[in-house]
Amino acid sequence: MGSFYLTTPIYYASGEPHIGHAYTTILADVLARYRRRAGDDVLFLTGIDEHGQKIQEAAAAQGLSPLELCDLMAGRFEAAWDELGISHDRFIRTTEREHLAVVGALLERLRANGHIYEAEYTGWYSVSQERYFTEKEIGPERVDPIAGGPVVKIREKNWFFRMSRFQERLVRHIEGDPGWIAPAARRNEVLGFLGRPLEDLSISRPRSRIHWGIPLPWDPDQVTYVWVDALTNYVTASGAIDPAAPAAERGFGELRPSRWPADLHLMGKDIITTHAVYWPTLLMGADLPLPRKILAHGWWVVGDTKMSKSIGNVVDPLALRDQFGADAVRWYLMREMSTGQDASYTAERFLTRHDELRNILGNLAHRTLSMIRRYRGGVVPSAPADGLETETAAALEAYRRGLDGYRLHEGFAAAMELARAANGYIETREPWALARQLDRASDLDATLTTLARTLAVLSSLFEPVAPKRSAELARRLGLDRVPLLRELPEVAVAGRQVRVGKPLFPRVDV
Ligand code: MSP
Repeated sequence: MGSFYLTTPIYYASGEPHIGHAYTTILADVLARYRRRAGDDVLFLTGIDEHGQKIQEAAAAQGLSPLELCDLMAGRFEAAWDELGISHDRFIRTTEREHLAVVGALLERLRANGHIYEAEYTGWYSVSQERYFTEKEIGPERVDPIAGGPVVKIREKNWFFRMSRFQERLVRHIEGDPGWIAPAARRNEVLGFLGRPLEDLSISRPRSRIHWGIPLPWDPDQVTYVWVDALTNYVTASGAIDPAAPAAERGFGELRPSRWPADLHLMGKDIITTHAVYWPTLLMGADLPLPRKILAHGWWVVGDTKMSKSIGNVVDPLALRDQFGADAVRWYLMREMSTGQDASYTAERFLTRHDELRNILGNLAHRTLSMIRRYRGGVVPSAPADGLETETAAALEAYRRGLDGYRLHEGFAAAMELARAANGYIETREPWALARQLDRASDLDATLTTLARTLAVLSSLFEPVAPKRSAELARRLGLDRVPLLRELPEVAVAGRQVRVGKPLFPRVDV
């Protein structure tokens, strides 16, 4: 039994939830459910990023105040997560009073430690990325190197964080803990970035240019740079800094016993630099411990094209959910992407993954439950299991290895393999033939028991990724809950009254 604090990025309140946001959030949800089922006390945090120029402009374009837009979008994101079966413990909004106070406190801590100074800044700013780029990064075309969007030249007074001071310490940390940034490709990318001299970080913007932000405690004409504001959400939700303490004490005071440091920050590879460079150095500057692990996953593209509003190829996870159900969307996203690598969304692959659920897991459940009803009056016989022991043990091992090692696709592939093996077991045992031979009654009992037990195991393995259907499967087996991992493989199924019901994964006409 341990405790586990994991986070998703907080998504910009300017955009609708799309499949990319859904992927990170479902990935976090699967891990949260897996940990809870292993007995951990889990804190799963997600939320939205509400300040900055991007939000200010999006609100203005819709004729709303920034807060009106954020209220609207908070509702949209929460509804989306509810529909996709997300079990977060806390949904944070960066306009919450508690967060405003914690950002102020973190900045005061940095200043008290002598890491903040004021200077004139000249540079190229990208509103869509909410960050500055160097002359070299924007190249001769003068576009932001991540999204290709426009950049504007800016000259203004900013407050700076002496990030450069922490370069060596950060490099030592990354080198000393090889698993700290995963996968290795991202770790190398960050080390490459740190191979050049690290510049100081501008942490404020003049209020005259951007009014929608958190004022600096010591200079209210400047608002906090939105990334500093946003990253701090992870500390706010942990409870480490008391938002009610007087400002002066907050800056210097002791940390409260809390969930900090986070065990896992999850994000897409697009925002690895902010999480693996800005964030740890800010924490070092404020004397806070670093998160234990940073996992950056790959990018979803459509066919071989980047998903974008202007191309009009953004995949809507909620439309898929309405058609196929939340569990099918979750299964597709977790099974199809090798955690860490890019993946391509296609409708064909989605259907193939859906068929796999239907034809392998759904079919196994339907056949097994129907045979128990037909041959044994709906009651699971009491007999020693006979068969599938090796397959079950192998699946359990591969499953644990996959989920513990953050290779979820491998873990879930192993679960599906077990379902496939159980279908094969039905073919070899031919229960319908056994049922015709009176002297084979005990063989039929053993066969049905083995299948019922395997279904119980499968309900447990599939629960993190397909929570609704797995709970339904457990109910149909007459269990009062999905068995925990440590209760496997010996689930007491004997004597349970089963129910066949409608197919677990219905056919969808497309
Ligand atoms: N607000 C910042 C994050 C601040 S965290 C302190 C932000 N928001 S965002 O709305 O742009 O969401 C970015 C995240 O959404 C990515 O890191 C990734 O987790 C997810 N994805 C968005 N599009 C994606 C894909 N096409 N594919 C996979 N995930 C992507 O950045």
